Amino acid sequence: MAKPDIQQVKQRFGIIGSNPDLNRAIDIALQVAPTDMSVLVTGESGVGKENFPQIIHQFSHRKHGTYIAVNCGSIPEGTIDSELFGHEKGSFTGATGERKGYFEVANGGTLFLDEVGELPLSTQARLLRVLETGEFIKVGSSKVEKTDVRVVAATNLDMVTATRNGRFREDLYYRLNTVPIRIPALRERKDDIPLLFRKFASDCAEKYSMPPITLTDDARQMLKDYYWPGNIRQLKNITEQISIIEQTREITPDILKLYLPANEVGLIPVGTINSSEQKSFNNEREILYQVLFDMKKDMNELKKIVHDIVAGNMKAADIISSPLVGSSDKPLPPMVVNSSERNAPITVKEDGHTIIPASNIADADVIDAPEYEEETLSLQDVEKDMIIKALERHNGKRKNAAQDLKISERTLYRKIKEYNLENL
Ligand SMILES: Nc1ncnc2c1ncn2[C@@H]1O[C@H](COP(=O)(O)OP(=O)(O)OP(=O)(O)O)[C@@H](O)[C@H]1O
Ligand SMILES: [Mg+2]
Repeated sequence: MAKPDIQQVKQRFGIIGSNPDLNRAIDIALQVAPTDMSVLVTGESGVGKENFPQIIHQFSHRKHGTYIAVNCGSIPEGTIDSELFGHEKGSFTGATGERKGYFEVANGGTLFLDEVGELPLSTQARLLRVLETGEFIKVGSSKVEKTDVRVVAATNLDMVTATRNGRFREDLYYRLNTVPIRIPALRERKDDIPLLFRKFASDCAEKYSMPPITLTDDARQMLKDYYWPGNIRQLKNITEQISIIEQTREITPDILKLYLPANEVGLIPVGTINSSEQKSFNNEREILYQVLFDMKKDMNELKKIVHDIVAGNMKAADIISSPLVGSSDKPLPPMVVNSSERNAPITVKEDGHTIIPASNIADADVIDAPEYEEETLSLQDVEKDMIIKALERHNGKRKNAAQDLKISERTLYRKIKEYNLENL
């Protein structure tokens, strides 16, 4: 098969940019596509990793075979082995029938394991075996089965650190990383920023039948100097927001500033944030959310204590043993932040992880005095409002709205149900 032209590939997959590192990444994908080698695509969140397994599949001899994308971070730990490798009837409670796993279904094709760094260690052992021998065993079975699947994996984790601290098997890392493809962060390809902006602005203009927004020279420079922790995904969201919200079509630095969080406007030098810090940076909003709900909960509890004291229901001993009194450094409750639950192409399950704000709302609900109830309601209103706005911004596309809100798709689905927003 003659190697296709990089420009044609970009056109076909809607990839914008002419940065040499991006071109190199596409070139490696094309070189390796006709082989059966495992590929590991790495890069920060939002850099565009998801195009690469598709390029590899499309330009391989497997292109007429099945292509399955699995988001390893969005599947509950208890069912991931069964989803990947299948199970026998009765192998666990609820396994009423036999089930084929993705490794069986994708036989002759390509399996994209997105967020592979999130796989539990027990699943990593099974994965290593199938990569090395093509053999796997269904959950609850003893029969060894064969499959011929090409695996392309992706992650935004720092895998070297993950292997060092025992979260990821080193042997599996080397096996997956036979061919590494690193996608550069947006701040490493500054010249592509105006191109991407123009593309997103014109897409948005076309979609809503309005003239596209443009940048003044100073605004263009500001956009190029920005840190872009959320990379292309963030640039796309911001361009869409400005296109819709602003009346004027010529965007100046003063307008742009309103959309770029101040501490990120070129203040953080490139290279000072490593990828794990980057991840927590991206989860900042979810963490703030947690802290806010927590403070609110504490406030409500304090109010209830005062209320009880005034009503004469509480003894001094009760007050002293209250968790809010005498423990100024009370730790935050355990938090589940799973940024990797975003782009679940196959399974969106509602029964997964604990969701942060909900538990706090539920706790606050316990308080029965009317004034506390009112406050709880207003918190819920804020949350509902944020969800409605995000859904509107993304024309009802839940995946994009969840990304924007920095919550998992699963959380969003649950919240939509909870607030009866199904018709949005
Ligand atoms: N070169 C590009 N040109 C145009 N759009 C792009 C490009 N790269 C990425 N995008 C868009 O940016 C968004 C984010 O890309 P993608 O979902 O592939 O990120 P990712 O690297 O998988 O991030 P995460 O690690 O968070 O899953 C998508 O909407 C994608 O279409
Ligand atoms: Mg992704």
